[in-house]
Amino acid sequence: KKVYLNGKIVSAEDAKISVFDRGFLFGDGIYEVMVQLENGLFYKKAHLDRLQDNLNKIGIQYNIKEIDDNLEVLLKASNLTDQSCLIYMQVTRGVAPRKHSYPKGVPATVMMYALPFSLPHINPKNMKAILEPDFRWHRCDIKSTSLLGNIMTNEAAMNANTNEAALVRDGVISEGSHTNIFFVKDGTVLTHPANEHILNGITRKIVLKLCSDLDIPVNEKPIAENEIEHMDEAFFTGTTTQVASIAQLGSRTFYKNDEIGKVTIKLQKAFAQLRE
Ligand code: PDD
Repeated sequence: KKVYLNGKIVSAEDAKISVFDRGFLFGDGIYEVMVQLENGLFYKKAHLDRLQDNLNKIGIQYNIKEIDDNLEVLLKASNLTDQSCLIYMQVTRGVAPRKHSYPKGVPATVMMYALPFSLPHINPKNMKAILEPDFRWHRCDIKSTSLLGNIMTNEAAMNANTNEAALVRDGVISEGSHTNIFFVKDGTVLTHPANEHILNGITRKIVLKLCSDLDIPVNEKPIAENEIEHMDEAFFTGTTTQVASIAQLGSRTFYKNDEIGKVTIKLQKAFAQLRE
């Protein structure tokens, strides 16, 4: 297995970073996850643009052009050119003596790797999810490598034998532990607005565009926990989740069997066509 680390392709065993890397000490970095499908890197530009935006937001001086230029190099070294795979990339603020304030003139640590990964055209899972308090910070728009709140709530979902945790902040549903969440009510698609309480997912943006193409009305407004019972359909979105129907959310059962809502199916089918 190969890793791209600071300008070089190395084997996974040789991909080593300093214990003084701020990514390790503080979770001081940004990451991205993207997939390569039949028709190439899926929304590569959107992912790289978000990476650059996030780096700018936290003042890491780094130009994602290096990553862009080396993606093919990584895929080739990993024998994954033209194969379905997942690419993980992260950029941290680099190696410096432990001090909270940003160090000056330190090069960023850049790491990426790819692994074989296939995605069905339509996610067959009808997800079950629990509701968990969203105790994360107030900058969830930043795709930070500090993910304790996300992993703790996801772990709670796994321990409850469900697939995901939907997070509740101030009485409203923000997003999933590693997904965005949508609802459907009377034919309108509803989702939390893209503010500092959610990550503005690339899949979320694609789904909103598909709604507009398909003339499905959209309202970007937060759904309160106590409104869930009145919703007709719900689904999660994400790079590795795609568009996944929700059968059960907290105490609300949307479907008892493999049934999937009309609007959800329509969006799943339209989403699947994007890779053709
Ligand atoms: N997760 N919200 C959160 C908190 C996420 O971590 C993610 C992505 C999303 C969906 O974003 P996108 O559609 O751009 O993948 C929403 C990635 C896949 C992960 O952490 O593995």
